[in-house]
Amino acid sequence: MVELIIKKRNGFELTKEEFSSIIDGFVSGEIPDYQVSAFLMAVYYEGMTSDETANLTDIMMRSGELIDLSEIEGVKVDKHSTGGVGDKTTLILAPLVAAAGVPVAKMSGRGLGHTGGTLDKMEAIKGLSVDMTREEFIDNVNRIKIAVCGQNANLVPADKKLYALRDVTGTVDNISLIASSIMSKKLACGADAIVIDIKVGHGAFMKTVEDAEELAEMMIGIGSKMGRNVIAVITSMSEPLGFTIGNALEVKEAIDTLKGNGPDDLTELCLELGSHMLVLGEVAKTQTEAVVILKKLIDSGAAFNKFKEFVKAQGGDTNLIDQPDLLPDTKFSEIYKSKSEGYISELNALDIGLASVKLGAGRETKTSVIDYGAGIVLQKKIGDYVKKDEDLAILYSNNFANFTKAIKFMDSAYTISEEKPSHKPLIIKTITR
Ligand code: URA
Repeated sequence: MVELIIKKRNGFELTKEEFSSIIDGFVSGEIPDYQVSAFLMAVYYEGMTSDETANLTDIMMRSGELIDLSEIEGVKVDKHSTGGVGDKTTLILAPLVAAAGVPVAKMSGRGLGHTGGTLDKMEAIKGLSVDMTREEFIDNVNRIKIAVCGQNANLVPADKKLYALRDVTGTVDNISLIASSIMSKKLACGADAIVIDIKVGHGAFMKTVEDAEELAEMMIGIGSKMGRNVIAVITSMSEPLGFTIGNALEVKEAIDTLKGNGPDDLTELCLELGSHMLVLGEVAKTQTEAVVILKKLIDSGAAFNKFKEFVKAQGGDTNLIDQPDLLPDTKFSEIYKSKSEGYISELNALDIGLASVKLGAGRETKTSVIDYGAGIVLQKKIGDYVKKDEDLAILYSNNFANFTKAIKFMDSAYTISEEKPSHKPLIIKTITR
């Protein structure tokens, strides 16, 4: 291991066998954390070639169980978001794309830091279970074209260990390590094609479009080497997506969007990502044709009905979908008002995400219990003109003491300026093979 650390530190390329000995030794416990930490720091500074990144991904992917989706008919298309605030697109896209006939066999994650997670949002629906046996999962996809479950504990154990170490050694934000971490999990989940939404901005891992492009190209390259088609869409996370942040609040907004009454930004993103999924899933020839199909599924109610079918199949109470006001709410709410007059020129997604965690919508520690009703409903977004004392947002929590903690972050989230900010596109760039 010392030789391999020095080889990487001196800028040389490692072979697949060398990566294999590092990862195998680390997972088995033979190689101690301190040596892997030194190796990660060497990678952080020296980087990895595209071959090294693909080899590392392949070895990580094979460190645990590989999900075999071959019993599901059709082209299985997965979607992944690098994580954002108010990002409830999976709740909309999964039933929408399934309604178009593309099988959705999706493994999702929980909230991480200031970003929310699909599983937590789904569990805001009473009765709904994300724990399924392999048979139930495959059967649901074959029967109704959709199943969303939690990741198997034995899926890519190398990433679980490596990510935990990166988190405490200042080596998370290396593009090769991020690409191999995300792709090893996506590839292990067995999809034929993957659409990746790479978020850029305050609330995201990638802070610049250039970094997002590099990450996109790296993930597409890994996909190519493994025979999977990957499309990356780079989208803005400079403000939260839609108006709601928090689990039940986001389910309500997802229902509105499935019925055609969602916010413009969220709808635009779902149509963009969904149209790529339909083309990859061979249900549409072009993106334009795919958008027409998706809009029809929303207008006819088919997308909403598929969502209900999906909730029912996973044990959820569909009365809550018909009457979203019955979803979890909170004992307390507080209006957050503008401190000055002018245009909202910044609405920092990171601060809003952190405020929502303080309200109880996310976990501060691994064992925190989520308050499903807690969160934020924005009343205004970037570019809106506001008067002093006008409502900017409504905060919800079941713990009154949480408001004071959240307001600190709300105060730093907003910048009000005299000048109207220029319009920045939500969809920045699409990168394909
Ligand atoms: N998400 C992941 O799964 N891994 C990373 O390294 C970063 C974001």
